[in-house]
Amino acid sequence: MRLEGEVAIVTGGSQGIGRGITELFGREGAKVVFADINEEVGQQTVRDFDQQGIQAFFKKTDVSNEESVINLVDYVVEEFGKLDILVNNAGITYRKAVHETTLDEWKKLIDINLTGAFLCSKYAIPEMQKRNYGSIINMASTHANTTITRLAAYATAKGGLTALTRQMALDYGKNQIRVNAVAPGSVESPMLQKTYEDLGDPEEAFKHTLEFNPMGRLGKVEDIAKVCLFLASKDSEYVSGQTIFVDGGQINKFARPIAFD
Ligand SMILES: NC(=O)c1ccc[n+]([C@@H]2O[C@H](COP(=O)([O-])OP(=O)(O)OC[C@H]3O[C@@H](n4cnc5c(N)ncnc54)[C@H](O)[C@@H]3O)[C@@H](O)[C@H]2O)c1
Repeated sequence: MRLEGEVAIVTGGSQGIGRGITELFGREGAKVVFADINEEVGQQTVRDFDQQGIQAFFKKTDVSNEESVINLVDYVVEEFGKLDILVNNAGITYRKAVHETTLDEWKKLIDINLTGAFLCSKYAIPEMQKRNYGSIINMASTHANTTITRLAAYATAKGGLTALTRQMALDYGKNQIRVNAVAPGSVESPMLQKTYEDLGDPEEAFKHTLEFNPMGRLGKVEDIAKVCLFLASKDSEYVSGQTIFVDGGQINKFARPIAFD
């Protein structure tokens, strides 16, 4: 029970990686509010957790909307009296080069993937400062460092998240608020499934990913959740401003699978 007594927000927790983090944090004793724009899937997730004896609370939230984020933080503090952990995980993706991307598409992705983390942090931090205690985890990606063709807005947002992580670690260290990022490789989730389908030949893309990965497998949501648990817990109490790659070693490889060129 490494998070006993802690109160956490996980954004984008209705499915995929965020759901895995919510589940593990719940099992480790935290009161977890998962915030997601998708209410239908979110409510189903609450029912699934209930059946497994895991307590988690859903709050419909659009992380790119300031009013919605204020409501989320207010709800958490009213219900649970404090906020200790924030996981900025919500995100979207699409494959487009700069010249193919409309301004609205660009703004939407940056608003959700990068500004969403800014907004949630902006309203979470004053609550953490009251107690001089907190851990913020930003969900980046290997694309923050080495990327592929036609991923302009996504790679930019993820690079921005790692910069924001380093910067916030400086501003809030004095409040004992730690800020770190997790950068997953290819992780089994509805987002990855859709990315593969968009490539036209999902099986071929899957095969290439396995061949390319040094460990020969995709990441599981649990692989990411376990690193988030480390960063959320006191096990990492002197770790701040870091980006941890959770990708089976893939970031170190020069070549990319043909399917992604
Ligand atoms: N799956 C991967 O291979 C992979 C790799 C690297 C990084 N990531 C990152 O991990 C995070 C989670 O990815 P995933 O694979 O679980 O994706 P996913 O699409 O399966 O889940 C993302 C969740 O975010 C929610 N969301 C979208 N827009 C939102 C908004 N405006 N406000 C609140 N919630 C919103 C969705 O409803 C969904 O529940 C994302 O930031 C993604 O970029 C994923």
